[in-house]
Amino acid sequence: MKHLLKLLDLTPEEIIGILDLADQLKYEKKHGIPHPRLAGKTLGMIFEKSSTRTRVSFETGMYQLGGHALFLSSHDLQIGRGEAVQDTARVLSRYLDGIMIRTFAQEEVESLAEYGNIPIINGLTDFCHPCQILADLMTIREHKGTLEGLKMCFIGDGNNMMNSLIVGCLKTKMSVSVACPEGYRPPQEILDFAAQYPCFELTDDPKKAAVGADVVITDVWTSMGQEEESEKRRKAFDGYQVNAELMALAKPDAMVQHCLPAHRGEEITADVFEAHADEIFDEAENRLHAQKAVLVTLLEDKN
Ligand code: CP
Ligand code: NVA
Repeated sequence: MKHLLKLLDLTPEEIIGILDLADQLKYEKKHGIPHPRLAGKTLGMIFEKSSTRTRVSFETGMYQLGGHALFLSSHDLQIGRGEAVQDTARVLSRYLDGIMIRTFAQEEVESLAEYGNIPIINGLTDFCHPCQILADLMTIREHKGTLEGLKMCFIGDGNNMMNSLIVGCLKTKMSVSVACPEGYRPPQEILDFAAQYPCFELTDDPKKAAVGADVVITDVWTSMGQEEESEKRRKAFDGYQVNAELMALAKPDAMVQHCLPAHRGEEITADVFEAHADEIFDEAENRLHAQKAVLVTLLEDKN
């Protein structure tokens, strides 16, 4: 594994390997066992969109691994004034040991990987959010003891979260049921991937998707960069809320995950959110551990 551009590129064994390493690093952190596996290494973090969790967990993670992280806002980089991503990649490859990038187009991340010669980590694009889903899988496995055979249900937009969850959950042998309104379905590339799995279901009926679910997941209806559509989207997603009525259809011990930030009263009610707050904030915490595992996997000297 040279990069983390999207989960479609990873084998199930690579995904499970990252989750196992994440569990180990979490254990070491909790027990005060130092793990400076990236001493002397520098990660550049390019942000073209806002972030709380991704920025803080990557920066803290690099510090805990004995390395260093640089926050690079696209407003300050020449990339924000039009310098080609291909040139930025080749320059940054001469200074850094790895790059984490949060941006709009998946092509920009793929282009960094093509032109640079250091590991590239996707910290969210419009297409996918692989780091988040590794944390979600880690959290589900921590709470349920396994992933295989569990049913994940996602209610809402066919966005970066839904795309990566479909891929990550199917690759780890979960069954997947997603409910989204027509016009907000995942892209064809994701549906083609999912079509190989008989345990995948796409519906426009949230109630049907939620039946018997072990994990119910949702995300905002308006993602970063779509702010002008928010009114239209609020109408389109009417009826796609994770609320007590919907949760009653899932298994009695069903978990709830939300990548955050959340809009209480829109995609999730405040009561469901608070009833599952421990699971949701474990998920947020696990961004740190899962990403440290990604960093070690990609950046640690081999031998
Ligand atoms: N879930 C997530 O990626 O959060 P941030 O946007 O705060 O990084
Ligand atoms: N779908 C959301 C996820 C935020 C972490 C967005 O792209 O804004």
